[in-house]
Amino acid sequence: MKARATVHSALDVERIRRDFPILSLKVNARPLVYLDNAATTQKPLQVLNAMQGYYTLSNANVHRGIHYLSARATELYEDAHIRAAQFFGAKSMQEMVFTKNATEALNLAAYSLTQSLRPGDEIVLTFMEHHSNIVPWQQLALQRGLKVRFVPIQSNGQLDVHVLDEMLSERTKIVGVVHASNVLGTINDVKSIARRAHKAGAKVVVDGAQSAPHVKVDVRELDCDFFAFSGHKMLGPTGIGGLYGKQELLERLPPFLFGGDMIREVHATHSKWNDLPWKFEAGTPPIAEAVGLHAAMDYLNALDLDRVHAHEQMLVFRALNGLAKMPGVHVLGPLDARARTGLVSFETPSVHPHDLAEVLNAQGIGIRGGHHCAMPLAEHLNLKNGSARASFYVYNSLSEVDALLAGVKKALKLFG
Ligand SMILES: Cc1ncc(COP(=O)(O)O)c(C=O)c1O
Repeated sequence: MKARATVHSALDVERIRRDFPILSLKVNARPLVYLDNAATTQKPLQVLNAMQGYYTLSNANVHRGIHYLSARATELYEDAHIRAAQFFGAKSMQEMVFTKNATEALNLAAYSLTQSLRPGDEIVLTFMEHHSNIVPWQQLALQRGLKVRFVPIQSNGQLDVHVLDEMLSERTKIVGVVHASNVLGTINDVKSIARRAHKAGAKVVVDGAQSAPHVKVDVRELDCDFFAFSGHKMLGPTGIGGLYGKQELLERLPPFLFGGDMIREVHATHSKWNDLPWKFEAGTPPIAEAVGLHAAMDYLNALDLDRVHAHEQMLVFRALNGLAKMPGVHVLGPLDARARTGLVSFETPSVHPHDLAEVLNAQGIGIRGGHHCAMPLAEHLNLKNGSARASFYVYNSLSEVDALLAGVKKALKLFG
């Protein structure tokens, strides 16, 4: 990662927290410390108000009517595509398909891209992938006689790109890679991976579920062919995510879901597809959710993702330092906070991660314990019980990191 010349001021956490009433809850008579942001983030009032405002004054179905409300809803829905396209640096909204979540986006990419592959063709993934970027490829590979290969992880928590280079050949048709690992926190050098994959003639599918909320993403700068994300992990509502795809590829690929809205013409025996991005959006879409996602992206833009990332690095630095000093704790992933997004996973061999999460919950602290939907990674790293994961976001403070560290210490003592 390149060091930035500009020094950004820290986020005003106190001010930000006023936008999230949920964070004032007490849990077990303690102030809530929400550290499960990699699973889903909280939603600011700006997002909730935008969605309520939509249902209150603009609700109708999109693309289906010429009456006032339908035109209004259509405009809001299309505006959300335009905002999402800008947010990720896409050329236009034609390159921005809305889906239910990152999982559906990755299924769309996997289904559409594998239709033209032949038995023996290869898909290269990494051992860092979430199940969402493994199972679709694995199942389609089983159906179509394709081979799935996995790039291993080095002891420093980084992908072994030399092995990737050895794996790439004319048989490689797709390289699927997570931009930021939801367990190790590692930010992968997608730009360099894309360059290597393209040299071999492969298409690059990036799982951006854990990078989109935390670092500035420019899909054209990364030169990836596809980029998947989830709205609910970036202050937006559940039920919406998206897939960026290069326009020329989306034009060529077959649709994933069929039905209303994705068609231009339907005849008894054949159909013609709608323009992009609607060709990939069958049925009534998540309209209120798109309005909420738009508001979430505006909120993040106003905070500035470079500042968000700097703030998280400060929290991660404190957490890494504290955990690394604790006997009986083994931190996973890079030890350099600059190589990570805002999460820290760790193993405590004397305490099962579920027990640790329970002890912390008694103190009002919410973390996640288990394999974090990345079982091949747990196997690869030989983590029998998985790990505990604390994941931070814009509203978390250094004092909350300290509460986590004190809580882990207490749990280790209790079980030690
Ligand atoms: C790296 C990564 N990819 C994909 C997903 C799937 O996201 P969703 O469940 O919103 O589809 C997650 C969710 O935790 C994730 O962390």
